Amino acid sequence: MPDQKALNRIEALRDLIRTHDYSYYVLDQPTVTDFEYDKLYAELLELEKKHPEFVTKDSPTQRIGAEPLPFFSKIQHRLPMLSLQNSYSIDEIREFDERVKRFLQTNEKVEYFCEPKFDGLAIELIYEHGHLVRALTRGDGETGEDVTQNIRTIRAIPLKLANEARSLPLLEIRGEVLMFKDDFRVLNENQQDAGLPTFANPRNAAAGSVRQLDPKITASRPLRMYCYTFGAIQNYRFHKQSEFIKQIAGWGLPVSPLHRICSSAEGAVDFYNDVLKKRHSLAYDIDGIVVKVNRFDLQDELGFIARSPRWATAAKFKPEQGSTVITEIAVQVGRTGALTPVAVMEPVRVGGVTITHATLHNQDEIDRKDVRVGDTVIVQRAGDVIPEIVRVVTEKRQPRAKPFQIPHTCPVCGGAVDKVEGEVVLRCTNLLCPAVVRESLKHFVSRRAMDIDKVGERTIDQLVDAGLVKRFSDFYRLTLAQVMSLERQGEKSSQNIIDSINKSKRPTLSRFIYALGMRFVGEQMAKILASHFRSMERLLEATEDELDRIEGIGKRVAHSIATALNQKTLRDEIKSLENFGVIITNPPSLKKRGLLSGLNIVITGTLPVERNLIKDLIEENGGKSSSSVSKKTNYVLAGESPGSKIEKAQELGVPIIDWHEFQRLIHEKK
Ligand code: IVH
Repeated sequence: MPDQKALNRIEALRDLIRTHDYSYYVLDQPTVTDFEYDKLYAELLELEKKHPEFVTKDSPTQRIGAEPLPFFSKIQHRLPMLSLQNSYSIDEIREFDERVKRFLQTNEKVEYFCEPKFDGLAIELIYEHGHLVRALTRGDGETGEDVTQNIRTIRAIPLKLANEARSLPLLEIRGEVLMFKDDFRVLNENQQDAGLPTFANPRNAAAGSVRQLDPKITASRPLRMYCYTFGAIQNYRFHKQSEFIKQIAGWGLPVSPLHRICSSAEGAVDFYNDVLKKRHSLAYDIDGIVVKVNRFDLQDELGFIARSPRWATAAKFKPEQGSTVITEIAVQVGRTGALTPVAVMEPVRVGGVTITHATLHNQDEIDRKDVRVGDTVIVQRAGDVIPEIVRVVTEKRQPRAKPFQIPHTCPVCGGAVDKVEGEVVLRCTNLLCPAVVRESLKHFVSRRAMDIDKVGERTIDQLVDAGLVKRFSDFYRLTLAQVMSLERQGEKSSQNIIDSINKSKRPTLSRFIYALGMRFVGEQMAKILASHFRSMERLLEATEDELDRIEGIGKRVAHSIATALNQKTLRDEIKSLENFGVIITNPPSLKKRGLLSGLNIVITGTLPVERNLIKDLIEENGGKSSSSVSKKTNYVLAGESPGSKIEKAQELGVPIIDWHEFQRLIHEKK
């Protein structure tokens, strides 16, 4: 492509991607499928590779890639980032309004702009001529930390603003970086899957993600931002908060659609009540509303007292908390052997939900909060679902209460417990620990893994107790009679179980990889591996170096995956699964399609999988299956006790392949 044409296309692609990012991350209205988005992104990446001279810092491809930092540098804010006065009741909103009017010496109604009080991490974005040049945390209000390279990875935040904003030499925008509740739940599930520590609530997850020295980690975290105020600005004047919000949204900055212009304090009270009602149905956590005098000339008149503006108040919601007593600290053993302490409490109702358990995450957390059995504690619902222990009411502590220590042997198998350097999690190291086995089996059948939906936790417990299932492949060995021999399993439910197991025999490669439950291999990582290797065989050949070179995989993870893949037990297990007829499928790739394209295959004999499934597979891969052998036949796929078709094939010189060779064909092995 001639240079000018390439440049035009590059710019067009960047604009398209920016528009899609904006629709997705800011408006929450995706305009393209992931597939189409990925295609545009891949095309841009390719063109930039061919024309490195056209790569600019604000290209969507430049969001990641920066090297980890040794520390964050400290930078002074041009204008201090102050805080808000808090109030906790409707009456205090009215008192705030009285104070404002007294100060302004007016009896007329004051117009307020009301918005949610976001519960995240305050960040300042600095744009010069419309380009994001720096991002700082609030820090102590005077000096913040330079988190630019992390903030650049957040797709909700534009690296470049709309054209009109380019005439502003300086525009400092402040807002809150946060994590949506749904994203937080998925992140925690993935952390758990990967054997990594989980976060107590979306705010901690957001703050922890921004304050990562390695921007690749931040890039993998689903962060958002809502902007609500500004610092220094050159060459532009806003007159009202409402105008400011509308204008910056027009320039491409993310603002919350939830806000209201209220003509008086009563309007602000209504907003407070409305938001309180819908608090739980919002996508993100808030801890109240912020009421701001809408006119900036009045704000200037009102000024500040100490560190807070006189023109705004944060009307906080009363936290949904309750008080109860810890009856036990149980230690659960997860799939990766990780020991997780869980507080078992006397039931208490908080925000309409009964709470009986709260995770204590790890020993560090127990020590930090100094939680002991018998303690009276304040609990709250974090992220609106997961209960969290806020603090211990130490005044009520029993004199004999002892600090809690996670045992140094596994509570399930009694085996040794290990703490990996640099990690806070303790792990049972016994690969055959019954808890590890049970949890691995539960993970294997789970919805996002092999999706064997009729085999629930109770069934797994029964199967394990009866000695029928010890490893993944044992599911595929089960007979109807064996399932029926379990307590409370009738013929019908047993048949459902067998059917559901059979139905799981065609996982996609990424689901299969995820189902194996290797450490650090959550769903996201499984997808990365599947799209890179495209077959289990190729993945099994991968070296640590090769894994390390893949974008999105770090050294430690590469080492861990390579070690797991080299274990004989895992390799044998994968082979057994394939022998039992588990066929790993791959969604059509962009590059290669139709591995059996133009091939004519005849099936004969008994194979591990139903005929119809094999026929589908052949067709999906672009081939044809016929019932009789002729000169046009390319392969005869022969199972056990094949019929006369074998003789015919031999006669005509048609190659005969077995189940394994067939699998190699469809798995792109060259
Ligand atoms: S305006 C002079 N608006 O609350 C302070 N702050 O306690 C102007 N916050 O550090 C801040 N939502 O992190 C403002 N809609 C909102 C907010 C908000 C959350 C945070 C912000 C600030 C803290 C002040």
